[in-house]
Amino acid sequence: MNAIKIKEGIYWVGAIDWDLRNFHGYLTQRGSTYNAYLIIDEKITLIDTVKSYKTEEMFQRIRSIIDPSRIDYIICNHVEMDHSGAIPAVKAQAPNATVFASPNGEKGLKAHFKTDLNIKAVKSGEVINLGKRNLHVVATPMVHWPDNMVCYCPEEKILFSNDSFGQHFASAERFDDEAPLDIAIEEARKYYANIVLPYNSQVVNELEVAATLDIQIIAPSHGIIWRKHIKEIVDLYKSMAGNKTVKKAVIIYDTMWHSTETLAREVVQSAFEQKGFHVVMRNLQCNHISDIMTDLVDAEYICVGSPTLNNNMLPNVAAFLTYLKGLSPKGRKSVAFGSYGWGGQSIGLVEQDLLACGFEVKDVIKVKYIPDNNDIDQLKASLISKIE
Ligand code: FEO
Repeated sequence: MNAIKIKEGIYWVGAIDWDLRNFHGYLTQRGSTYNAYLIIDEKITLIDTVKSYKTEEMFQRIRSIIDPSRIDYIICNHVEMDHSGAIPAVKAQAPNATVFASPNGEKGLKAHFKTDLNIKAVKSGEVINLGKRNLHVVATPMVHWPDNMVCYCPEEKILFSNDSFGQHFASAERFDDEAPLDIAIEEARKYYANIVLPYNSQVVNELEVAATLDIQIIAPSHGIIWRKHIKEIVDLYKSMAGNKTVKKAVIIYDTMWHSTETLAREVVQSAFEQKGFHVVMRNLQCNHISDIMTDLVDAEYICVGSPTLNNNMLPNVAAFLTYLKGLSPKGRKSVAFGSYGWGGQSIGLVEQDLLACGFEVKDVIKVKYIPDNNDIDQLKASLISKIE
């Protein structure tokens, strides 16, 4: 396995994780890559590493250019172990190498590895001189952890953006003009929805800084490298970070004996269609919660339904709402719905969780046992009157 040249003296030396299907609960159906970058300068520099089980693949690619013992600098843009996992192995090969990380990164590396890594903390605005090239450090806290930073190389016009602009997308191609653009964009959207969404305001700050830079290449830590379609990926990020929604309703439900499904179709779907919304139906029995998050990024309405089981909602719905509360897009409208036999607690519990997400609950729809035509007509008319 060889390094891939990005520009003269700059190489991708990461690893491709074709088999990855679960990234802390996120369904990565296209696998992922962990992108490490090698810069050959007076100070030979490695930007980020790979997951620990991919260390040898990274070393093979580095060895196709230099002996890893010659590495002088290791830049740790992010402590999460998909990027820092191989730092101890690199330090074992190059014991005199200096590790650069943000102040929070220094704390995180010490907490993770509990060994002396010869870390130098760098703050936003500091410049790491490599010889002919420089790396300008920009702190990007919470995109994706408190320690995150990115590096900009003005001589090469490359932004090493770490998790930002990344995609969980394993492919033989390394660049956006080689891989299918629609897949890269879709995976970037999914990545944002499942990783970055809670930190919109921090992304806005990062985009403001990026707008001041002359960028020819965005080199993220996952997926393909952007060199042709920079405007497309930056515009996508602007739209998502700006919390832009469209006239779209996503209806998410599980069902026990099809009554909640009937409400989902005959009441909620039908009402939103009649009001001219683009409607997306997501039965939790056959859709992964991380795919549903992608649907929600630009949805004006989020509608969630569950029947009552043992005084509670169905476990699939509870799992989805737990995930949703953690990521919680801002300023959305919602509807809670469901059928029940006697207690009917699930619908109130769904409503509570939607309120906990910060959503405005426009309607709560509750039917005992099986909705009949009268129920459906009345509930649909009522919901139509409340949809704005
Ligand atoms: Fe790709 Fe937050 O690590």
